[in-house]
Amino acid sequence: MKVTIVGAGNVGATCADAIAYRRIASEIVLLDIREGFAEGKALDIMQTQTTLGFNTKIVGCTNDYAKTANSDVVVITSGIPRKPGMTREELIGINAGIVKSVAESLLKHSPNAIVVVVSNPMDTMTYLTFKSMGLPKNRIIGMGGTLDSSRFKTYLSLALDKPANDIQGMVIGGHGDTTMIPLTRLASYNGVPVSQFLSNDELKKVAADTMVGGATLTGLLGTSAWYAPGASVSYLVDAILNDQKKMIPCSVYLEGEYGQNDICIGVPCIIGKNGVESIVDIKLNDEEKALFAKSADAVRNMNEDLKS
Ligand code: NAI
Repeated sequence: MKVTIVGAGNVGATCADAIAYRRIASEIVLLDIREGFAEGKALDIMQTQTTLGFNTKIVGCTNDYAKTANSDVVVITSGIPRKPGMTREELIGINAGIVKSVAESLLKHSPNAIVVVVSNPMDTMTYLTFKSMGLPKNRIIGMGGTLDSSRFKTYLSLALDKPANDIQGMVIGGHGDTTMIPLTRLASYNGVPVSQFLSNDELKKVAADTMVGGATLTGLLGTSAWYAPGASVSYLVDAILNDQKKMIPCSVYLEGEYGQNDICIGVPCIIGKNGVESIVDIKLNDEEKALFAKSADAVRNMNEDLKS
């Protein structure tokens, strides 16, 4: 299986590293516009093969899309990340042009690939990719909910003082500080609702910390995070390449699901070899429905900026 990652920066390179370490691809191509940069990252990761125990071939290249030919999955991380104090939404002008041209070049060489969009503002970039590529909607997946859910489970594990892998939880809605919806009502520790262990105030704090999880890291690091984003992409790519049919919240094109149309936003999806195999209809309560509608309005407003 072949995976191409465009953008060999913090997220792209970490994603290549995590995919290699998962031993799920025979070849990974890293592509960047910075002369020699992707080549350097690829070589560095290749040199972990014998110490980490994988045999994936990793090819780095500068803008040479011929090397990406016949990829099964292509991941778009190219673009600028946010700096402290910036919102993801402020990246739209620059990243829209980059994402559109990168997606076109990728598809010329890998017409059957599943496309994973990471660049921010991710829901709008996913929508742009869907609208400009003319591909079936199951083949365009925005990665945001995987990361937001892993942050949610991390904050729950800290609040509960229990292992994160014993915790189930999901974040849906837009991938933005004010638009994501951590579903605290449905979160559980080994199947027991977390509300059995945490007070309302504690749950509210977990949700609030999750929502600004990315901004907290941007403040600490001076740029946006990469370990958890890269690992989250590898989790999604694993589900695709190994046809896992796993339920993962992803930003996908909606046609009536969750009461929304003509928008890409995070909803629970079954992810497998065809990309989005189906969208799962979980029964939201009235409060969650209202939050989802508000989140969709905000994402839709941002999509309007693509026209300007
Ligand atoms: P970075 O600046 O470290 O890397 C971006 C790379 O893209 C750079 O190496 C740059 O040379 C390259 N690039 C720019 N234009 C290009 C083009 N036309 N073709 C090929 N490569 C090009 O940034 P980082 O931290 O890796 O973030 C990348 C993007 O991912 C940002 O938009 C960021 O906001 C987003 N992000 C999304 C997350 C999500 O959950 N969806 C999580 C974290 C970051």
